[in-house]
Amino acid sequence: MSTTSTIWGGRFAQGVAEGMAAINASISVDHRLWRQDIAGSRAHAAMLGAQGIISAQDAAAIDAGLEQIAGEIERGEMAFREDLEDIHMNIEARLAEVIGRDAAGRLHTARSRNDQVATDLRLWVRGAIDTLLGKISTLRAVLEGLEASHEDAVMPGLTHLQPAQPVTLATHLGAYRSMLARDAGRLRDCRARLNESPLGAAALAGTPFPIDRAMTAKALGFSRPMANTMDAVAARDFGCEFLFCCAQCAGHLSRLAEEIILWATPAFGFMRLPDAWSTGSSIMPQKKNPDAAELVRAKAGVLLGNLTALMAVMKGLPLAYNKDMQEDKRPVFDSYDALALSLDAMAGMLTGARFDEGAMRAAARVGFTNATRLADWLVMHLNISFRRAHHITGALVAEAERRGCALEDLPLAAMQAVEGGITEAVYDTLRAV
Ligand code: ARG
Repeated sequence: MSTTSTIWGGRFAQGVAEGMAAINASISVDHRLWRQDIAGSRAHAAMLGAQGIISAQDAAAIDAGLEQIAGEIERGEMAFREDLEDIHMNIEARLAEVIGRDAAGRLHTARSRNDQVATDLRLWVRGAIDTLLGKISTLRAVLEGLEASHEDAVMPGLTHLQPAQPVTLATHLGAYRSMLARDAGRLRDCRARLNESPLGAAALAGTPFPIDRAMTAKALGFSRPMANTMDAVAARDFGCEFLFCCAQCAGHLSRLAEEIILWATPAFGFMRLPDAWSTGSSIMPQKKNPDAAELVRAKAGVLLGNLTALMAVMKGLPLAYNKDMQEDKRPVFDSYDALALSLDAMAGMLTGARFDEGAMRAAARVGFTNATRLADWLVMHLNISFRRAHHITGALVAEAERRGCALEDLPLAAMQAVEGGITEAVYDTLRAV
């Protein structure tokens, strides 16, 4: 027998170097897969029993043992061991203690850690998507509430961050609600595509045992077994897709965060953040900083990094499983955590935010934001081409700028000096905001 204690140590004469164990171990990250690992193992053991591949007694013992271990982990009683590498071997080693080595040793019949880990991570991402979808719909509901309560609130619509045309706060916030609807749709698409079972692919080539892949797929809520065994263990595009969905959603949140940061400055003065979602300064007593919004803005960058990380890890890997792929979990977990926090923070900030409709309306009048309306009026009422109307309006803006007044404050005579057809009626349009 070998001198090593690892599960795979049969052919090894020596234990691994300290550095080897350290670079190899993933338990500090993948312990988060414990629920999925136990669910996957229980489904696999039940199938092995049903197919007569292991005895009914062993299947029952494995199931009861795994249930007990789930309770232990849940209660924080299980100490994960780095020398056992990963979550799969930690649980299997504990199972041997609980039900004995022989019965526990039969669980891994017709299975490899390669199909096991792919199954676990698919299940984990599926659950993560469901949680994120709930958080997205909470944030959408907060936006919808604000849109309803500020239906008539006019604000400056900007392009190039310069005054463009007046819009309503409802339109502005509604834009984010639309983005979030697409983000949710992308996550749902990702969920549907990843929801296939790798179990039964074993290491890469399937297994000679008479397994029932449909049974384990069904027990775990997968739509079907994956069609190709090598693909089943080698694919991580579901992880990349999930990371893209997260990065895109975080990207949308970062734009909203940036607007909140601007709107909450005295210079804009459009909104006040709730104290509960702001922080103070250690030196400047007057400060109220939008740290949560800034962190939401920053996390979009981190999430983009996570997407890049996994895509870079996966590129160029030969089929099938490679240990490189163990690096898939950290970015997946990190992006989920960051996006979940960001969605919560955004909902919290906006729920308690107070908008200053007067300040927004006053700002909406600054910078000749009614110029496009004037050009449209000229086209509609004087039947001149838009290009000419644009030119005439430009001349009127220049005249108003020269006089230091708004377009609606130009005397009719001054307007008629530029375009003789303009009548008194134009002022209704100019004063609409
Ligand atoms: N901890 C491993 C991972 O996350 C599990 C799969 C190991 N497979 C293997 N052939 N060494 O990728």
